[in-house]
Amino acid sequence: MLTKLFRWVRRVVSSRIRGAFRTAQRTIYNQRVPLKVLAARRNLLMGTAVSYTALKSSPLYVRTLCQEYNLIAVENAFKWLTLRPERDQFAFEQGDFIVNFADANKLAVRGHPLVWAGALPVWLQKGAFSKDELAEILHTHITTIVRHYAKSIQIWDVVNMALKANGDLSESLWYHALGANYIDQAFQWAYEAAPQARLFYNDYNIEALTPKSDAVYKLVKGMLERGIPIHGVGLQAHFAFNHHPAIRDITANIDRLGQLGLEVHITECDVSAPGMIRASASGKRQILRAQAAVYHDVMAACLQSKYCTAFVTWGFSDAYSWQNNAHKPFHALPFDEHYRPKPAYYGLHSALQESYHSVL
Ligand code: XIL
Repeated sequence: MLTKLFRWVRRVVSSRIRGAFRTAQRTIYNQRVPLKVLAARRNLLMGTAVSYTALKSSPLYVRTLCQEYNLIAVENAFKWLTLRPERDQFAFEQGDFIVNFADANKLAVRGHPLVWAGALPVWLQKGAFSKDELAEILHTHITTIVRHYAKSIQIWDVVNMALKANGDLSESLWYHALGANYIDQAFQWAYEAAPQARLFYNDYNIEALTPKSDAVYKLVKGMLERGIPIHGVGLQAHFAFNHHPAIRDITANIDRLGQLGLEVHITECDVSAPGMIRASASGKRQILRAQAAVYHDVMAACLQSKYCTAFVTWGFSDAYSWQNNAHKPFHALPFDEHYRPKPAYYGLHSALQESYHSVL
């Protein structure tokens, strides 16, 4: 009887302590300066990709988003698969919902992507179209979308992931249809539809100094020399807790692109942590600390170059991460699935704060 009572008291006390600890954590977090405020002091936009489903269904998602970020990237709503169900049909519902939300909450928007070999609808993949037809389909696509959002979207990923690891152009549908010129052509069409917008080439594994990032450098330098309207390069930055390039190499890459007259955005940063599921409690803490260090370092690399003007993560809560598709949950983002800030959040926060103090 006495043992039972003792156990009950212990349970109640420890759950009260845990509760008080969580409240204290929450209070500390609530009193922190949001990421977007710290970033703004360094003229940096702080962004995240948004999920249409989460935006529509989770008030906590919306609250965290608006509290911490001032830029959103459209994760899937502008992909051909979502936006172009048929050759003669545009499905703007998801995109309009997201863009109206952004306008209402004063968030800038990164439109993503106009041209990509991924997420193509079956009618396009299997259509056996002639080269001229494909050129017309692409032209109509770019023109219609960019004009539709001309008032609200000032930043576009015009071409996404066009290069192979060795730097050669991927042999995509667009490459076969229009030849190597399709990239120039796409930027030209986007420019004609919205001359005020900033137009980006976006890719992965081009964050530091690699054969692929050399190829991107060559590609965009050539475009500028040919008078093609390109204004920036997006570095996706999908990393892992135990693997990311050296900060100085990322900064050097950003600087060389900047010296061409371009701006650079970190566009899809996330830091996967696949070992989390099987790790012990102390193993988990170690992984989360390592993940925080990666977020910190990538942010620091961006802040060390004056040409890096936006830092975007590919989602912000582990409740909604594309990495979860492969292995749920993947713990790749700065907030956990209950929207509590993780060490990763504080990694970003402290990099921003350090850089602020260093320029004071
Ligand atoms: C991903 C989305 O996040 C997923 O929800 C979707 O199932 C597949 O595409 N690089 C890109 C993004 O440029 O568009 C991809 O987004 C992630 C990799």
